[in-house]
Amino acid sequence: EDGVKVLSNVVASSAAMHEKYGGIVPEVASREQLRCIIPVLTESIESGSGLKKGQTPLAVIKRHIDAIAVAVGPGLIGSLLVGVETAKTIALVTEKPIIPVNHVIAHMYANFVNPSIIPSEGEGSLAHASSNELRDSSATPQNDKKITFPAISLVVSGGHTELYLMKSIKDLAWLGGTLDDAAGEAFDKTARLLGFESRGGVAIQEAAKKCQMINPPAGEAGAKCQIKLPRPMIGDESLNFSFSGLKTAVMRQWKKCEDHSEKLTNAFAHEIQESITDVLVEKTLRTAKKYRVKSILLSGGVAANTRLREKFKASLIAYHLSPDRLFIPPVNLCTDNAVYIASYAFFRGHPADWHEVTACPDLNIEVQA
Ligand code: KG4
Ligand code: ZN
Repeated sequence: EDGVKVLSNVVASSAAMHEKYGGIVPEVASREQLRCIIPVLTESIESGSGLKKGQTPLAVIKRHIDAIAVAVGPGLIGSLLVGVETAKTIALVTEKPIIPVNHVIAHMYANFVNPSIIPSEGEGSLAHASSNELRDSSATPQNDKKITFPAISLVVSGGHTELYLMKSIKDLAWLGGTLDDAAGEAFDKTARLLGFESRGGVAIQEAAKKCQMINPPAGEAGAKCQIKLPRPMIGDESLNFSFSGLKTAVMRQWKKCEDHSEKLTNAFAHEIQESITDVLVEKTLRTAKKYRVKSILLSGGVAANTRLREKFKASLIAYHLSPDRLFIPPVNLCTDNAVYIASYAFFRGHPADWHEVTACPDLNIEVQA
C-alpha cells in the first residue's frame, strides 16, 4: 500500500529444488513456478485480507486492489512467462490496470518499503486498504527512514551488479555495471568449485565465518596453498564490474592445493568473500563521494551478505560519510520477492495495455534519467 506498507508477502522458495538439481534448471524452475503461482497468489490474498466465507480471491482483487504489477524482465523466459501471463489474465478478468516492471531496477525499491509497518489484525489489511487512485507519484515515501537525494544505489543480484544515481525517487541514471559474471554469479560459481551443492552466497558466507586460518602456514605444502585472490577492477575509473577472472583465479589456486580439507575450504570461502565485498564497497563509496550523495542504497540477493553489510557500515567513516546515510533492506526483502515489484510500480511504474505487456528476457537495465 502506497509503495511502503506490506499488507502481505508470500514467497515460494526454490532453495530445496536447487539442492536437488545443483542449481537452477530453467525448465524445471518454470514448471515449478507454474505449479506454485496460483496457490501463492491465493495465500497472499488470504493472509492480507482474511477471506470472508464464500469470497473468492478474484473478488478481493476486484474490490480492494488498484493495479497488478508484474516483473517482465530481465530473466529466464520460462519463469517470466508464467508471471506475465498470470498477471495479464488477472488484469483482464478483474479489469485492473497492469504495470510492467523491470526486475533489476525494482530491487532498489525494497529500500523504500518500511518493514516496521506491519498491519495489525483487521486494521491495515487488504479489506481495509484505502482504494487509492493510482498516483503518478511525485510523492516521497511515507516512512520514517529519511532517504534523501541524490542517492547512489547498488543492485547486486545473481545476474547483475549495477550502480545507479537516483536524483529523486523516479529519476534514475545508470552509471555502470556487470561486464561478465555478476557478484552473485561469482559467489555461486566459486561455491560450486569448493564443493558446495547449492545456495552459493549463503554457503560461502557460512564457511567464511568458520575460517580460522586466513592462510595456510608457509612451508612446502603451505606455500602452494597461499590464497590471495585479485580484487577485479577495484581501482578502475569506470563504474563497471567484472568477476569472471575471480572464478578462474579460485580454480587455479584450488587445483594447486592437494589437501582440500574443511579448513582450506573455509579459508578459500573467506578470501572469496573478502575479494567480492572489497570491490563492491570501494567502488560504491568512491562513487558516492564523487557525486556527493546524501544516501547510499543497497539491494539484491547479495546485499543479504552479512560481511558486505558490516563492511559497508565500517567503511563509511573513511569516506567521510555519515552512518545514518546507509540504507539496506532486511534480508528477506533483499532476495527476490514481490514486495519491491509492487513498490517500484507505485513510485515509478506506468500502467500499460495488457496486449502490449510481454516477457523480455533481455530487458535493458541501463535507464537514462
Ligand atoms: O536478487 P536475487 O534473489 O535473485 C536474482 O535476481 O538473481 O539474488 C540471488 C543471488 C544469488 O547469486 C545468491 O547466491 C546471492 O544472491 N545471495 C547471497 C546471499 N544470499 C543470496 N550472496 C552472498 N551472501 C548471501 N548471504
Ligand atoms: Zn532479483
